Amino acid sequence: MENNVYNSMTALEELIKKYNARKPFVIMGRHLCGSVTDNYIDSLDCRAVKYTGVRENPTEESVTDALTKFTQSDCDMIISIGGGSAMDTAKAVKYRSNKLSLPHIAIPTTAGSGSEATPYSVVIIDGKKVSLSAPELYPEEIILCSELLKSLSPQQKKVSLLDALCHSIESLMTGRSTAESKKYADSSVKLILGNYEEYIKGNEAVFEDIFKASYYAGRAIAVTKTSVGHAMSYTLTTDYNIRHGQAVAICLIKALEFAEKSGRRQELRTIYEILGCDHGELASTELMKVYKAMAPELSAEISGCTGETLANRVNMEKLSNSAVEFNRQAVVEIYNSVIRFIQSP
Ligand SMILES: [Fe+2]
Repeated sequence: MENNVYNSMTALEELIKKYNARKPFVIMGRHLCGSVTDNYIDSLDCRAVKYTGVRENPTEESVTDALTKFTQSDCDMIISIGGGSAMDTAKAVKYRSNKLSLPHIAIPTTAGSGSEATPYSVVIIDGKKVSLSAPELYPEEIILCSELLKSLSPQQKKVSLLDALCHSIESLMTGRSTAESKKYADSSVKLILGNYEEYIKGNEAVFEDIFKASYYAGRAIAVTKTSVGHAMSYTLTTDYNIRHGQAVAICLIKALEFAEKSGRRQELRTIYEILGCDHGELASTELMKVYKAMAPELSAEISGCTGETLANRVNMEKLSNSAVEFNRQAVVEIYNSVIRFIQSP
C-alpha cells in the first residue's frame, strides 16, 4: 500500500482537517510530555486526548490499558508519536477496538522500527512476541520529521538503526522478495551504510536520509516479513532485556556466519551483492564491522541459559520465513555463538 508521507510536523494540522477529526487519540511515550511536540499538539484546533502509558515492547496489559482509555474517549482519529512501541500500540488499539476504518497518523521519533510502513503490530503475550496483522493496520498518513531525531541519544540511534539494517537484510533472506521489496531493501542498506557514521555523530544533514532508510526497510518487510534474526532475537529481549535492534543484529550476524561456514554462500548471494562483497568478503564480517563501528553498549547479562534452552524459545513462524533453512541443531549452534559473543563481545 502507498502511504502518504510528509516531512514536517506542520502537516499534522492539515491532516486533522483532511479527516474532519475533532478529537484525536494521541498515543505517545511519557518522555514526550512537555516537549516541543507535545506543546504543538496542544496548540492544534482540536480536543486531543493523550495516552502516555506506552511501554517499550508493548504487552497484552499495556495494550488493554490503552484500549480502555481509547474506548472511553470517543475519539475519531489515532495519532501515534514515538518509536515502534507507540506505533504498534496504536495499531493494536485500532485492531482490538474493531475500528479498522479509523485514520491513523504515524509520527516516528526514531529511525529503525519501520512500523510506520507496515501492517504489523508486535505485542508480547505470555512472554512471547505475537504479531497482529491486517491490511487496515497500515497507517494512513506518515510524518517523517527529521527534527524529531535530534533528541535521541547515540545509543538509541545505534540500536534503532541496526534494527532497520537487519529488516532489509532479513527481507532478502525470505525468498518472498519482489522487485519492489528488493528495491527498497537495496536503497535502505545503501543509505544506512553511507550515512550511519555521520548520523551517530549527530550530523543533522543526514537525518532525512536515515529516516528514509528506516521507512524503506519497513516497506521491504511489509512485503516479505522478517526472518532468522528476528525469530532468534525475541527471547533475548523478553528474557534478558537486550534492546530489540541489538539482539536482532547479533542473532542475524551469527546466523549468517553459520550459513557461510556451512558452505551456503550461494544462498546468500543477493545479500552479498547489496553489501558489495565483490572480493571474497563475508557478509557476516561486513555486518560485524558495522556493528563494531557503531559499538552499541551491551549492559545486559546473559547467564543460566544454553543454546539448547534458547532454541526452545525461538519464534518458529519467523524462522520458517527464512529461505535459507536453519534446523534445530543449527539454531542451537548459532545461539551458543550468540551467548559467547554477548559474554565477551
Ligand atoms: Fe525489528
